[in-house]
Amino acid sequence: MPRHKSDRILIVGAGVFGLGAASELAARGYQNITVIDRFPPPVPDGSSVDISRVIRADYADPIYGRMATEAQALWQTEYKDHFHQSGLVLLTETPEHPYIEGCIDVLRNAKQPFTRLGNGNEAKTAYPALSGNLSRMSGYTNAAGGWADAASAIKQLAFKCAQGRVSFITGPRGTVTQLQRRGNKITGVEVLSGPPITADHIILATGAWTSTLIPTYESVISTGQPVGFIQLTADEAKRLRKLPVVINLSSGFFVFPPTPGTNILKVARHGFGYENPVEVKYPPAQKGMPVLQKTVSSPLRDRSGARTSFIPADSDKALRDGIRQVLPEFADRVWDRTRLCWYTDTPRGDFIITDHPQMEGLFLATGGSGHAFKFLPVLGKYIADVFENVAPQEVKDKWSYENAMNRSPSKGDGSRGGPKRRNLNVTERASL
Ligand SMILES: *[C@@H]1O[C@H](CO)[C@@H](O)[C@H](O)[C@H]1NC(C)=O
Ligand SMILES: *[C@@H]1O[C@H](CO)[C@@H](O)[C@H](O)[C@H]1NC(C)=O
Ligand SMILES: *[C@@H]1O[C@H](CO)[C@@H](O)[C@H](O)[C@H]1NC(C)=O
Ligand SMILES: *[C@@H]1O[C@H](CO)[C@@H](O)[C@H](O)[C@H]1NC(C)=O
Repeated sequence: MPRHKSDRILIVGAGVFGLGAASELAARGYQNITVIDRFPPPVPDGSSVDISRVIRADYADPIYGRMATEAQALWQTEYKDHFHQSGLVLLTETPEHPYIEGCIDVLRNAKQPFTRLGNGNEAKTAYPALSGNLSRMSGYTNAAGGWADAASAIKQLAFKCAQGRVSFITGPRGTVTQLQRRGNKITGVEVLSGPPITADHIILATGAWTSTLIPTYESVISTGQPVGFIQLTADEAKRLRKLPVVINLSSGFFVFPPTPGTNILKVARHGFGYENPVEVKYPPAQKGMPVLQKTVSSPLRDRSGARTSFIPADSDKALRDGIRQVLPEFADRVWDRTRLCWYTDTPRGDFIITDHPQMEGLFLATGGSGHAFKFLPVLGKYIADVFENVAPQEVKDKWSYENAMNRSPSKGDGSRGGPKRRNLNVTERASL
C-alpha cells in the first residue's frame, strides 16, 4: 500500500517498537499518528519497562552488532540520563561458546576493546565487587557495555512522540479486543470501550500479545522469563556500586549493579521461558467463514502482570543459584518482589518488521526476542525505513514474515541458557 504523509496511522502498543515507530514517522512528516495501549507508557507489564535493561553492542550477528553500536552512541548522548556504563562480563561454563566466539569476532572486526578471560576470576581485577568463585568459567569483559533505566528511557521517548504531535489513547478505549477486518484488508481495531478506531495503516507493535490478535503460527511464541529484585542496604549497595552486568550464558542468569537511589539488586534469566496457553479466536476473513480458534501463549490482557509477583518455584531456585555463584552473600535474601517478563520470541531471535503478507493495511513491528530494548534510540528509524520501503534488502529479508515462518521454533539466536521451555501448569497459571 502506498504511504502518504496525511494517512491515518494507528500504532497498537506503546513499547519500544510502537513508540520508536511513532516518533520517527512523526519526524519524517506523517501528520496523523495515534498510539494506543492499555496503559500510558511505560506500560507496566510490557517488556519495555523495569528498572534496568542490558545495553551492549556485543552481537554475534553483524547487522544487530552495527545497529547496537549506533544505538550505543545515542545512549551516551541523547539518552545519557538513563544509561550507566558499568561494564559487561559474559561468562560460560564450557571452554568455548559459539555465541561468545561470535561476539568476539564482531568486536574484533569493529575494533572495539574487550578483555578475554581464560578464567572467570580474572574479571575480579577490573571488578572486585564480584565475590563468587568464577574459576570454572571463561568468557570476556567489555567495559563499554552497561545498562539503562528502561522505564525512564521509555518516558523520554513517549515525550518525544507527544512533542512530534503523536496522539495517545489509553485505558479501555486504548485496549484492543480484535482487529477490524474487511476481507483481506484490516481497517481498524475494536476496543473495549466505544466504537472501533479506524485508520489507513495499522502498525501492530503488540509484543507478547500479538498472537492474541492475529494468527502467528510458529513465527512467534510469548515466553515468561523470571525476574527478581532484592532490596540492599545503602552500605551493601555502596560495596556493589562498581559491579558490572554479569551474564552467565550457560544458565541464562544475569545480574545488574544496584540501582542508584533505590539500591535494588535485580537478577533475571535470559532463558527459554514459560508458556501461558490461552484460547483465542480470530475474526473471519469473510462473513460466513468459520472463526479460527487456536491455543497460543500470551500474558494476560486485562490484569497488569506487573501487579502480581509470581514466578514458578523452579525459576525462583534458579535465580537464587545464579546469585549464589556470583554474589554468594545475597543468595538467601528475601525477594523485594519478583515478576515474569514476557518476551516475544521468534525462531532465530530476529525481529518481525514488515507488511503482513496477507492482510492489507497491516504492518508488523514486533518479535523483540528479549534483545530489542537496547535499540531504543535507533529502532524507530529502522522500522520507518521498512515502512517506507527504503530499507536495504538484507534488512527486509531478515525481518520478513517468511524468515520467521517455517523455521524450527525456540532455537533463538544462541544467547539463551537454562532449562527447556515449558507450559505453566494449572496452579501456576492461576497465580498470574
Ligand atoms: C486525522 O484524521 C482524522 C480522520 O480523518 C481527522 O479527523 C483528524 O483531524 C486528523 N488529525 C490530524 C492531526 O490531521
Ligand atoms: C574456586 O574453585 C576452584 C575449582 O572448583 C577451586 O579449586 C578453588 O580452590 C576455589 N577457590 C576458592 C578461593 O575457593
Ligand atoms: C553458570 O551456569 C552454570 C550452569 O547452570 C553453572 O554450573 C555455573 O556455576 C554458573 N556460573 C556462574 C558464575 O554463575
Ligand atoms: C505446578 O508446578 C508447581 C511448581 O511451580 C508444583 O508445586 C505444583 O504441584 C504443580 N501443580 C500441578 C497441578 O501440576
